[in-house]
Amino acid sequence: MNVFLKLSGALLIGTLSHVNSANAADAVAVERGRYLVNTILACGNCHTPKAADGLPIAGKELSGGGLSFNAPFFAGSASNITPDKETGIGSWSDDEIKRAITQGARPDHGRLAGLPLAPMMWVAFYKAMTPGDLDAVVAYLRAVPAVHNVVPLPEYKRQVPNQPYPDAEKGFTDADMLDPVRRGAYLVTIGHCMECHTPAKDGKTLYEQAFGKGGKPYGPGLVKGYPADWPGSNSRNITSHPEAGIGRWTDAEIKRAITQGVARDGHQLQPPMGFYWYRGLKEADLDAIVAWLRTVPPIE
Ligand code: HEC
Ligand code: HEC
Repeated sequence: MNVFLKLSGALLIGTLSHVNSANAADAVAVERGRYLVNTILACGNCHTPKAADGLPIAGKELSGGGLSFNAPFFAGSASNITPDKETGIGSWSDDEIKRAITQGARPDHGRLAGLPLAPMMWVAFYKAMTPGDLDAVVAYLRAVPAVHNVVPLPEYKRQVPNQPYPDAEKGFTDADMLDPVRRGAYLVTIGHCMECHTPAKDGKTLYEQAFGKGGKPYGPGLVKGYPADWPGSNSRNITSHPEAGIGRWTDAEIKRAITQGVARDGHQLQPPMGFYWYRGLKEADLDAIVAWLRTVPPIE
């Protein structure tokens, strides 16, 4: 055979397999991002518009305005984070998207250039994401369909700093993911369970009482986007305390509460907790979350 043909054939095969493995790596990242965004991160709980029954509207994924807030310091809606260039984040670079998710910083161009994101966007927890998971989330955000949807401009009444969460500051490693309790700690951190399940005083979350009684109250005066008859709810004690917390619950009861929003006595729990998203969690990840919850010291 002609040497040239043989060579170019080998080159061609070399190039093709390179392209294929790059595509395969992208596909793996998008899948991982899809899993995280649509389960533990529950980005859609705020960013995806909901129908009257409270369920996300098909075809509108992450297109903004899913929840709107009216707090003493901020009035506004979750942004359009689809790749639409005009009304979404299609003109942002990967690094710009990452800075928004982990630092709450908007890029110096486009809509609301340079203005920090309101703290409803829980960046103090999202910063705990491993570099691989953060890449995966960005890959997925780039892969969702672009939806043209103008979200009204927010009103910033007062600047509120993001309060650091100790475990997120320390960070997590890929090796942590092999240990169920550490992986559980990672999942609850990026899932920011403690944001709601921890009491606050004078605008400060009291992390030393994390998961104890009297977490933050959520109601229709503060949050819009749930069904009209949503009564609001107050988070509950999920420490290992045998009576006040979930110390006596079985693993199955805890998992059912997380993924189906059913309390131990069988009654339906109310949003804002993202049961709809958590139902897609893999069994091993749910086991890890439960394993970690069992280690939370009891608080009465
Ligand atoms: C509790 C509700 C909530 C959750 C959950 C949430 N966000 Fe947000 N997000 C917001 C709000 C509200 C804003 C707009 C804040 C503002 O205007 O200052 C925002 C803004 C953003 C922005 C900036 C977009 C822009 O144009 O300003 C990005 C990017 C973003 N979110 C990504 C995400 C991702 C990715 C997730 C999941 C990891 C997520 N958000 C989860 C409420 C939320
Ligand atoms: C956006 C706020 C919010 C987030 C985030 C959140 N929860 Fe909740 N959770 C609540 C509220 C509010 C209730 C009580 C609802 C009710 O009483 O109707 C609740 C109830 C529960 C219950 C049932 C407790 C009982 O006594 O019935 C469990 C278990 C639980 N949450 C675990 C978690 C875990 C684990 C995470 C993170 C993966 C999480 N929650 C994230 C707000 C939240």
